[in-house]
Amino acid sequence: MNIITFSASKGGVGKTTLSFNYGSWLASKGYKVILVDTDYQANLSSTFNIFTNENTLFNVFTDGNVEIRKINDNLSILPGAPTLDKLEVILQSKINREFLMMMWMQDHADMFEEFDFMIVDTHPEFGTLTKNMIAISDHVLVPLEPSEYGFTQSKNQYDIRMDEFKKEAVDLKTRTSLIDAKVHYIASRVKHNTASSHAFEESIKTIPGFIANIPEREVFNTSTLEKKPIFELNHQNTQSNINLFNTIETQFNNILKATQEENS
Ligand SMILES: Nc1ncnc2c1ncn2[C@@H]1O[C@H](COP(=O)(O)OP(=O)(O)O)[C@@H](O)[C@H]1O
Ligand SMILES: [Mg+2]
Repeated sequence: MNIITFSASKGGVGKTTLSFNYGSWLASKGYKVILVDTDYQANLSSTFNIFTNENTLFNVFTDGNVEIRKINDNLSILPGAPTLDKLEVILQSKINREFLMMMWMQDHADMFEEFDFMIVDTHPEFGTLTKNMIAISDHVLVPLEPSEYGFTQSKNQYDIRMDEFKKEAVDLKTRTSLIDAKVHYIASRVKHNTASSHAFEESIKTIPGFIANIPEREVFNTSTLEKKPIFELNHQNTQSNINLFNTIETQFNNILKATQEENS
């Protein structure tokens, strides 16, 4: 199973939208996908009308009794819950607190045998729960919005946190890092047709680790509101919609390619 976590220091950059749409897209391509909602706001779970405190991700850290909910043949979800906001405090006193998800998955490997991809959505922070998810990940995808503070600055802030975590999380015997995840950057919510957006698009192409460019478009909002993946929305086949869907398909293929390359 290839484990991919969407993570960013900021909210509103498209983590949940991308988890939902990219995960659904992979499922539509025939991959078996499990989504994991680690945000206590549980936006991703609510997309599937799942509102519960029973047998959610929270239980990984308490009694271990978790139930994976099946959405369709190719798509399942391990739901999040409002109780997840209590975790940070609960975990502080635990030994190995950043590796509890890893250990629980090792003990429940049979639950994940059928899946090709795990797609993890996170809360905007670099807390203990997010660290648990990064610890199990093969790839971390960081959506960054072009902003007044700049793409590069947000990227650098994320890199610093990731480096700190990699240095902290070492095997005590070998002193090698326990974190294998490769970090990639996605330009998200990129607005078009302004001079600054063109300059931005040119400059990000040169940034190492940059893999995809997701435009700011109304279909993503419609997708959130209607709780349907963008490719399942009933659109008029206008040329501009066809172009948009082709663009997104290309960008999702870029993500797929970058996350299938051997981790080195
Ligand atoms: N590419 C996009 N174009 C337009 N709206 C978007 C796009 N990505 C996300 N949004 C909208 O922005 C809001 C925040 O996105 P969300 O995915 O919830 O961010 P996060 O999970 O990072 O907090 C949502 O209302 C969503 O519909
Ligand atoms: Mg979110």
